[in-house]
Amino acid sequence: MTRAQPRPKRGLGRALISSERIARRVREMGEEISEVYRDIDTPLVLVVILKGATVFAADLLRSLTIPAELEFVRAASYGSGTSPGKLKLAHMVEGSMVGRHVLLIEDIIDSGRTVNAIADRLRKLKPASIRLAALLDRPARREVEVKIDFTGFVIPDKFVIGYGLDYAGLYRELPGIYVLQ
Ligand code: IMP
Ligand code: MG
Repeated sequence: MTRAQPRPKRGLGRALISSERIARRVREMGEEISEVYRDIDTPLVLVVILKGATVFAADLLRSLTIPAELEFVRAASYGSGTSPGKLKLAHMVEGSMVGRHVLLIEDIIDSGRTVNAIADRLRKLKPASIRLAALLDRPARREVEVKIDFTGFVIPDKFVIGYGLDYAGLYRELPGIYVLQ
């Protein structure tokens, strides 16, 4: 049985950020992060925000030159479209965060509500530090203040897909980042 799938109306066009640019920037971020955490005495804990940040996290992890562990949190602040809904936390980290250095990994910071809510929850677990790495920063729609410690790219006020980012669950497989049109 075939099911109708949403498709961009006028094709994807040119990538807003090509896979080559992403790869270059993610490698740089990996170097920067490895330098900042050079002297910590426990492995860094990457806390990946599911699902959008998984592609970024997988590449970033392999750009690190320091030991790192992986944990996942699941937030659902968006429904199936492009308008924000209520934030839910469907999955929380499994290991102990006490005294650990935590790096939150997010695909895009939009209103800032998702990452703030998750950081608040993680802070209760008494980590030694929490920092934030975001592949994309879209400051135009910020509603709450967010400090992004490591930013990949600042983008204009457009909904984007690809490299893990979805529209209605689709397009995560695109190697570059595209404006949904
Ligand atoms: P915030 O809580 O408004 O900052 O929203 C951040 C979350 O919304 C991210 O984790 C994304 O999953 C999702 N999101 C926001 N903007 C986009 C977009 O342009 N494309 C795909 N997902 C997005
Ligand atoms: Mg997300």
